[in-house]
Amino acid sequence: MSRVVTVDPTQPDPAVIDEGGAILRTGGLVAFPTETVYGLGANALDRAAVDRIFAAKGRPAYNPVIVHVADRAQASGLASEWPDTADRLAEAFWPGPLTLVVPKTAAIPDNVTAGLPAVGLRVPAHPVALALIRSAGVPVAAPSANRFTELSPTLASHVASSLGDRVDLLIDGGSTDVGIESTVVDLTGERPRLLRPGMVTLAALESIVGDVAVPEHDPAAGAARLSPGQVDRHYAPRAPVYLLSAAEIDRQADRGQLGLLHHSSLRVTGFRKAIQLAASPDRYAHDLYAALHELDHTGCAAILVELPPEDGAWRAILDRLTRAAHR
Ligand code: TXA
Ligand code: MG
Repeated sequence: MSRVVTVDPTQPDPAVIDEGGAILRTGGLVAFPTETVYGLGANALDRAAVDRIFAAKGRPAYNPVIVHVADRAQASGLASEWPDTADRLAEAFWPGPLTLVVPKTAAIPDNVTAGLPAVGLRVPAHPVALALIRSAGVPVAAPSANRFTELSPTLASHVASSLGDRVDLLIDGGSTDVGIESTVVDLTGERPRLLRPGMVTLAALESIVGDVAVPEHDPAAGAARLSPGQVDRHYAPRAPVYLLSAAEIDRQADRGQLGLLHHSSLRVTGFRKAIQLAASPDRYAHDLYAALHELDHTGCAAILVELPPEDGAWRAILDRLTRAAHR
């Protein structure tokens, strides 16, 4: 097992942060909490260190990695172009769960962006992540800290069971706050384009920069060209996931082998395990991955998930559930 150190998420011990910073500077891997999910960090300027991320995750090289920075100045310093839209979105949402894709400088090695000319940048809203980036003194490349195609981790225990001893240090800062990955917006084209929905909603983005394009999320429609990584089966537990209406779940007969995730009041008797999440998108997102991890650990044959409401605030949740159900 890797070294695991628990910190106060609001006031992390500087000695632990500096140990993590030193590991990053010298090419090692540090798993750390952000406000969205746990990240698996490496020095974003060190090609060999970034290769270690791909190896630890078992992740294919065509999948670009998000670079975490401490502030807007550090972000714009890694961009060869910093459009006005980037400035306005950063002003509105950073630090926070929003990743901006902008043209990169030569300082960012090609393996970070999977060969693309643009890099995804974000300033995380988490005291541990920010302190770690500052201590490292370098931008920190960090995908979610899980093996490829597995569920993203919202607890340090999720990281430990997925990555085992593949990280040099795991900083345990408790449960993450937002619970699902950041919104990703591409700013390299004529108008902003939503590459991955998140809890910074389309409506919130459009209130700052006007019309934002939403590409068809049809894996058959060449989405790979838009945002590599978004086409993979992703965010998925081991058990197959089925998205069903409340009425369909109510009619389900053989329940003994099934797990259930729901948010409305349903008849839940007979299921191997049923977990009810809050019918509020923020609270639902916060608890979603931990609930799926927990249902998966019951060894159930399948997980039924009640369809979320059709409302913009639930878009990112529906996106992750659809990916979990895709196989
Ligand atoms: O909330 C998050 O974003 C978390 C935490 C750790 O910050 N990170 C995360 O990273 O979810 P990851 O590697 O699991 O997701 C990265 C995704 C890629 O699959 C891709 O869809 C998009 O972000 N992305 C990153 N860099 C990109 C780029 N240069 N161009 C297009 N899409 C990019
Ligand atoms: Mg991921």
